[in-house]
Amino acid sequence: MKQPVLTTHHGILYDADCLEIVGHMKSEVVDTVFADPPFNLGKDYKNGYNDTVARTDYLAWCRKWILECCRILKPGGAFFLYATPELAVQFAPIMGERLNFRHWIALTMKGTYPRGHKLYPAHYALLYYTKGPPRVFNRLRLPIETCRHCGKEIRDYGGHRNKMNSKGVNLTDFWADTSPNRHKKFKVRPGVNELKMVIPERAILISTKPGDVVFDPFGGGGSTYQAAEKLHRNWIGAELYDSIHIRERMKENHSLFPAQEPRFEFEGLFAHEDKQDAVLRRIERQGVSARTVTHLS
Ligand SMILES: C[S@@+](CC[C@H](N)C(=O)[O-])C[C@H]1O[C@@H](n2cnc3c(N)ncnc32)[C@H](O)[C@@H]1O
Repeated sequence: MKQPVLTTHHGILYDADCLEIVGHMKSEVVDTVFADPPFNLGKDYKNGYNDTVARTDYLAWCRKWILECCRILKPGGAFFLYATPELAVQFAPIMGERLNFRHWIALTMKGTYPRGHKLYPAHYALLYYTKGPPRVFNRLRLPIETCRHCGKEIRDYGGHRNKMNSKGVNLTDFWADTSPNRHKKFKVRPGVNELKMVIPERAILISTKPGDVVFDPFGGGGSTYQAAEKLHRNWIGAELYDSIHIRERMKENHSLFPAQEPRFEFEGLFAHEDKQDAVLRRIERQGVSARTVTHLS
């Protein structure tokens, strides 16, 4: 297996196909999976990734990594999957084969446009499933909304404002504050496809405790990894095409530098190669057909 391209106090990042990385992981070792896959919409990721493959191939590939992510989840672990509603309805039954449905969280999406004879799309889905009853469920609260011009509170909460919890309002399954900044002047890394960090941050806060392990198979700009690092959760990541943005981001935000030793025992999450596999691989490298040596122990 490849060496990590970046290690931090809490995380390890591989410049690799997520299926390869997850394939080396033991079953039931991860507390939360957060995945924001490419949607196969012909998007230019500016890193060489081909986001237009045949629909059936794309869905077959998604099935593979979704089931692998389910396998590595601990009992009670959580799986958050960010997708367009059209894809979410295809992903949900796959997740449902192994996990229990908790929520379809709707996240407002501004700046989209209608295609064909369809309604104007205004939300994305964040599917939230757990492996059996949730191991951790932290109820989050949002600060009471205020006007950004005058600072006054916007709503009167039906006259019950004085009875409300001073820590704010309960987070619901409708997130209206997570739309990305589209305007170039607000982009931290222009051209990089990334979510607002608050999305993975909330998923992590809802479903984990400090020291738990988060896996995100699709690194992109690294928002999940930054959120995990900030919240003192351990993380494992993969980005197949170009992890430069993630590495820069981690350096900028945490004064981290590559090769910093992780403070958690990540080796324990990976299965050790068995003897036979190692022998076969060595022999194959030497140009001998693997079939002639299958009896090796
Ligand atoms: C939508 S972006 C993820 C953005 C990320 N959630 C963020 O907020 O920064 C999806 C990423 O997955 C990467 N990718 C595509 N196929 C992959 C694979 N098989 N293994 C790992 N990464 C892959 C793409 O290069 C792209 O950067």
